Amino acid sequence: MAGRMLFPRKSMAEIETYVKRAAEQEVEIKRLKVAIEKLKNGDFSDVQPSGESEKLQIENQKLKYREEHLLKSIAAEEARSKSYMTNIHGCLVNIFATAINKAYPQLEGPPVAVTPGKNGDYQCNSSMAMSGMLKSIGVKSSPRDIAQEIVKGIPPNDIIEKTEVAGPGFININIRRSFISPLISEILTDGVKPPAVGWKKRVCLDMSSPNIAKEMHVGHLRSTIIGESLSRLLEFVGHNVLKINHLGDWGTQFGMLIAHLQDMFPNYRNESPPLQDLQAFYKESKKRFDDDADFKKRAYECVVKLQSKDPNYIKAWNLICDISRQEFEKIYARLDIKNLIPRGESFYQDRMKDVVTELEEKGMLEEDDGRKVMFAPGAPIPLTIVKSDGGFTYDTSDMTAIKHRLDDESGEWLLYVVDAGQGVHFQCLFACAKKAGFLNPKNIRCEHIAFGVVLGEDKKKFKTRSGDTVRLADLLDEGIRRSREKLMERGRDKVLTAKEMKAAEEAIAYGCIKYADLSHNRVNDYVFSFDKMLDDKGNTAVYLLYAYTRIKSIARLANVSQEELTKAAKTTPIVLEHEKEWKLAKCLARFPEVITKILDDLLLHSLCDFLYEIATTFTEFYDNCYCVEKDRKTGEVINVNVSRLLICEATAAVMAKGFDILAIKPVQKM
Ligand code: ARG
Repeated sequence: MAGRMLFPRKSMAEIETYVKRAAEQEVEIKRLKVAIEKLKNGDFSDVQPSGESEKLQIENQKLKYREEHLLKSIAAEEARSKSYMTNIHGCLVNIFATAINKAYPQLEGPPVAVTPGKNGDYQCNSSMAMSGMLKSIGVKSSPRDIAQEIVKGIPPNDIIEKTEVAGPGFININIRRSFISPLISEILTDGVKPPAVGWKKRVCLDMSSPNIAKEMHVGHLRSTIIGESLSRLLEFVGHNVLKINHLGDWGTQFGMLIAHLQDMFPNYRNESPPLQDLQAFYKESKKRFDDDADFKKRAYECVVKLQSKDPNYIKAWNLICDISRQEFEKIYARLDIKNLIPRGESFYQDRMKDVVTELEEKGMLEEDDGRKVMFAPGAPIPLTIVKSDGGFTYDTSDMTAIKHRLDDESGEWLLYVVDAGQGVHFQCLFACAKKAGFLNPKNIRCEHIAFGVVLGEDKKKFKTRSGDTVRLADLLDEGIRRSREKLMERGRDKVLTAKEMKAAEEAIAYGCIKYADLSHNRVNDYVFSFDKMLDDKGNTAVYLLYAYTRIKSIARLANVSQEELTKAAKTTPIVLEHEKEWKLAKCLARFPEVITKILDDLLLHSLCDFLYEIATTFTEFYDNCYCVEKDRKTGEVINVNVSRLLICEATAAVMAKGFDILAIKPVQKM
């Protein structure tokens, strides 16, 4: 009772005012909380300065924040440096961002443009654009003057040797040899480490995805090769990758296949049918389906039975899928593809019903001539979610799969390595998934990794002479045959043991097929030519593999063991005095920035270009800098330049890591 006395009676109007004021205060508190958060993150956009001195205070605050931020990121980088390789380009971007902000704090988001340089090792090109930005706020300043100001603002660091303002206002940047030299040693002592990427993501990578009973074709080969390489790259930098094989293992084609199976192998339930050539079997059943009305009717009945999960039909379906999968497995084994999770369209069958119900409840589906379709902003055409006969489609399975990957697999980054011809499909899929609320593009990266078609040397669609689609197994066989021929031309069969010969044949054949695919910008069509890919000159796998074996043999010829090299790497500093030593070392040190760039655009040909650049730069180095000196008469080793031998080893190590990402197997002898 006493408690009541604490609250003297108030009029209704008074209470209303209190409530209103409390609500207003709550809003104000929320606003302030947001503003505080923003300030903590270095965002000063909400602060309104009242006079000059306050303006200066805010600028100081901003600078202080940026400096703190930079120090923090440098410290973090240092703490992690054992497990990451320093990205010089990234460091320069940080340094120049600081310099630019120090020189021109009044500019909102000035560009920090640092690129590999023509005259310096790197260059900063920001001043040109900044001149325009300054002009728009009434400050007249030439790019050259701006460049000078930026240079003055460069914070103390141990990377930059000197800078020089050149031309219209470029800043040429020279890197310190003393910064690169230990990086090269680290390659040998700690291994080839990835650049730091921050947040480690769960990636769902849709790749390969051939269709059951139909032969895997060259389009699927591209998806397999590109997908594998991407997965290796993503895993290398620490992401957690789920490789999903979205097999076409469900659909009406199974009706005719099962009907044909029943006729050809009536005993299929008790005995495994000797079905070697599934593609021929597919063709036969397709022919009957097209020519024979009765068969067609039966095929449709089989689809219904299969969909109702009649055990006999499921058994037949499983048989066909198993044979197909075994064929695919052989190809994957040859191409060294592991941990590819077979998760075909059939996997989503039961889940599809729920997704359709959900879309229906959310009012997302529209009737269209008996079908149920879904439109979305940004989708040029609608997805067909339910067919007029009530069945589901490729679109339905992809809508279900995307939800599954996000919700059940906790995917944070979804990639689909599929031919460019399906571009519209993925555009519609992503737009509809967004509209349905499955996909929040703000925190999920979702991309179609499109690639062009494979052409024959006649620039027409890749076909056999008789006009059939080329079987992958035959293609790989031909690769092996051709690479054996090449090796025999060089008389290698007389030098190598049978085992070494086989390893070399496979390394060359599969390496070439993969490299030819990966070394072209994937977006373009590419011409499949064994002659070109097996050429030992130019940017080919053969050239790189030879370069690699040659580099690896240098230490062997010098009679220096691997243990001795490992020991030397810890004690012998890398000397970078000769122009060619320096050029090669700078090239190797670019490895982390090449990887960082690919993580952004997912274009693997930059890695191929980089490996080729390493190999050619190495040749320049090796032609100009002796590593091992031999007695001309006796051939005896009289002098070994250990620092240079270490540079050779570091070159081989970076190349080996590159090969590994491209899923190419180097051999010690070829
Ligand atoms: N099986 C399809 C084809 O051969 C490719 C599937 C790609 N992946 C996907 N989620 N749609 O064309």
